[in-house]
Amino acid sequence: MIQIDRRVFTLHTRNTTYQMKADGHHVLLHTYYGPRVSGEDLSYLIQYADRGFSPNPQEAGDDRTYSLDTLPQEYSTCGGGDFRLPSIEFERPDGSLTADLRYAGHELRKGKYGLPGLPALWGGDEWETLVVFMEDAAARMRVELYYGVLERHDLITRAVRVVNRGETAVRLRRCASMCLDFQGGDFDFITFDGCHTLERNLNRAPLRPGVQSVESIRGMSSHHHNPFVILCGQNADEDHGLCYGAALVYSGNFLAAAERTQLEHNRLLLGINPYHFCWTLEPGDSFTAPEAAMVCSPNGFGEMSRQYHRAIRENLIHDPLQGRDRPVLINNWEATEADFDGEKLLEIARAAAPLGMDLFVMDDGWFGRRDNDASSLGDWYVNEKKLPGGLEALVPRIRALGMSFGIWIEPEMVNEDSDLYRAHPDWTLGVPGRPRTRGRSQLALDFSRREVRDHVYASIKKVLDGADISYVKWDMNRSLTDVWSAALPSDRQGEVFHRCVLGVYEMLDRLRGDYPRMLIESCAGGGGRFDLGMLYYTPQIWCSDNTDAIDRLAIQYGTSFCYPVSAMGSHVSAVPNAQTGRSVPLETRGVAAMSGTFGYEMDLSLAAPEDRALIRKQTAFFKEHAGLIQNGDYYRLTGLGGPFTAWEQVSPDHREALISVVYGAARAAAPFRALRLKGLDPALRYQVNGQGSYPGDVLMRAGWPLPPLRGDYPAVQLYLQAL
Ligand code: DGJ
Repeated sequence: MIQIDRRVFTLHTRNTTYQMKADGHHVLLHTYYGPRVSGEDLSYLIQYADRGFSPNPQEAGDDRTYSLDTLPQEYSTCGGGDFRLPSIEFERPDGSLTADLRYAGHELRKGKYGLPGLPALWGGDEWETLVVFMEDAAARMRVELYYGVLERHDLITRAVRVVNRGETAVRLRRCASMCLDFQGGDFDFITFDGCHTLERNLNRAPLRPGVQSVESIRGMSSHHHNPFVILCGQNADEDHGLCYGAALVYSGNFLAAAERTQLEHNRLLLGINPYHFCWTLEPGDSFTAPEAAMVCSPNGFGEMSRQYHRAIRENLIHDPLQGRDRPVLINNWEATEADFDGEKLLEIARAAAPLGMDLFVMDDGWFGRRDNDASSLGDWYVNEKKLPGGLEALVPRIRALGMSFGIWIEPEMVNEDSDLYRAHPDWTLGVPGRPRTRGRSQLALDFSRREVRDHVYASIKKVLDGADISYVKWDMNRSLTDVWSAALPSDRQGEVFHRCVLGVYEMLDRLRGDYPRMLIESCAGGGGRFDLGMLYYTPQIWCSDNTDAIDRLAIQYGTSFCYPVSAMGSHVSAVPNAQTGRSVPLETRGVAAMSGTFGYEMDLSLAAPEDRALIRKQTAFFKEHAGLIQNGDYYRLTGLGGPFTAWEQVSPDHREALISVVYGAARAAAPFRALRLKGLDPALRYQVNGQGSYPGDVLMRAGWPLPPLRGDYPAVQLYLQAL
C-alpha cells in the first residue's frame, strides 16, 4: 500500500493514489491525489513559475520560480512565504510566529497508529502507517505527519503530533489535521449545514477566489455545520466524477476551509478551530491533533459514501452487540416530555411490547426534581415521587414485558437549581466577574477537570449499577460559552475547549470499558454532535429533534453522504408532528425511520387498532431485513425536491435489495415515472415483492414503474430477491 522510493512517498488504495515528495530543499510537496496510478514520481506535474509577490526562501538562491506560495504543500506553514491557509502556527518566547517545516525522516509501520485520548479508526494488518517527520530547526519543533492507509475502503487517515524539542515553552496556536493542495482544477465545495431541527442540508457551490469555510465555535461539532466536507469536480454527481471527502474524527470546534488562490490552485484544510485555541508546550511536551479521514472516489458521491459507511461500520464503531441487530426501541420523550410517572411509562411499555419493540428508553425527567428543563441536571438519582421504589422496582416490570431497559443522561451539564450546583458552583465553565450565559436554563460543567468528571461518573455509575440497564442515551443540550476553567492558569485558558472534548472522550471511554455490552446512543439536542468522534464511542447518534418524516428525508439524505444508516437514530412519532404540525401517513413515517436505527417515540397506548396492526407489521418487516437495511450498500436513487425521494440498500452479494420511495404532496394527473435501480447484478433475475421477476440489467437501465398513489406523501417499498 505504501511505496517509498528515495523521498517519494506513494500511498495506494484499491482505486486511488496519494503522493508526496521531499524535494531538494527538504520541503514536503504534495504531488498527487486521485484515481490509482503507478508509483512513479509525479513531481513532474508541479509547475514552477516566477510570480510577482510570491517570495523565495534563501536557499532557492536566484531561482524566483521556487516559492512556498505557489508550490503544493503537504502541510502548510506560515510566515515564510506561503500566504495561503496555514496548517500550523506557533508562538516562540520571542513572540515570533513563523513556522518552517522541513523533511527530517520517516517510518513505515504495519497496522494502524492510535492516538492517545482521541478517537481514531482502528484495525489490524489491513492497515499500513507512514509517519513523516518534519523539523523546524530554528524553533526546535518536530511535527510528525501520520498517514493510515486502508486499501479496501479507499480510505487514508491523517493525524499530526507536534513535539517541542527545545528548551523553552512554545504556544501552539493552530494545528490542522490535514491540508490538501491541488495545483489546478475547478472544484465545487460541498458542506452540510443547518440548525437545530434541520441539520446537515447539503450545500454545493463552485469554489471561488479566496477562502470559503464552515466551522463550529460552540464547543461541539454543531447542528450548524458538520465536520465533513467534499471537494469535487464540477461535473461530479452520484455516479460520476472525482470527489474527495474529508471527515474530522472530532466532536468540538472545527474549521473546514477551502481556498482558491491567485493562480487558481486549491487548498482544503480541516482540523481544530484556531478560535480561542492556544496550547502551551513546555520542553518535551507534545500535542496531538485529531484524526481526519479522507476518501477519494473517481466515480461520484455514491461510491465515496459507501466507502465511508463500510469503514465506519468495520473500522470505527465498536459494536457492543457483537453483530446482533440493534434493538427496535420505544422512547417516551415526545409522548410525555418530563411529565410522567412509573405508571405512565408502564402503560406505554405495555402497548409497545406486543408490537415488536425490544427496548424501552426512559428519557429526560427521571432524576432529582426534574419536572421541567430548568432544574436538577447534575442530580443523578431517581426521583422516587415519580418512580416509587426507583429503578429496582421499574426495570424488572419492563423486563417482564420482554423488553430491555435504557436510560437518558446529560452528564456534561448542570442546572443552577440542583444540589450539585449548590455544592460546587465553581465546577461550571464561566469567566470570573462575568455572569454566566445560560442555554436551556443550564450551565456547562467544566469537563476539563478530572474531579468534576469523576463525581459525575460515580453518580451515574451508581444508577447504572443499580438496575439492569442495557442502553444509555447521552445527551448534550447547549453550546459552550464563557469558556474559562478555574483549574487552569491564565496562559492555558486557550486549552479549555479542547480539554473539555478530551474530557467527554475520557468519560465515554470509561463508560464503554465498564459496560462493554451496553449500547450508547449519543445526542446533542438531536444531531448537534453527529461526527466520527462520537461514533467511535457511541454506535448510534440521534439524528435530529425533528421527527417529521418529510424533513427527515432531507436530514437523513445529507447525513448519508458520510455516515451509515446504522449510525442514524430515527423514530416514528405521532401526527400532527410536534415540530412542523404536518401529518404524514404512518406507512411513510415507518419507511423514513426504518432507514435508521428504527424505533418509535409516541404514546402507543393511544394508538388506534389499525395503527397498531401496521406498527406490528413495520417492526416485523424491519427485523426481517435489519441486516440488509443497516449493513447493505447504500444508494441514493434521487436527490431532494423532486416528485419523490428514493434510496436503496443492496446486500454485498447483490442478491437482495430494498428500495424505499417517498412521494411528495398530492397532485392530480401525476405523470408516469420509472425509477432506475442501482447496484444490482445485471446478470441476475430479481423477484420484486415476491411477485414477477425481472433481470437486474433491465431494472437498472429501464427501471421500475412507480405506482400512482393518492394523497400527500405516500410511500412504497420494493424488496428484491435474486432467484
Ligand atoms: C434533546 C434530545 O434530542 C431529545 O430527544 C430529548 O432527549 C431531550 N433532549 C430531553 O431533554
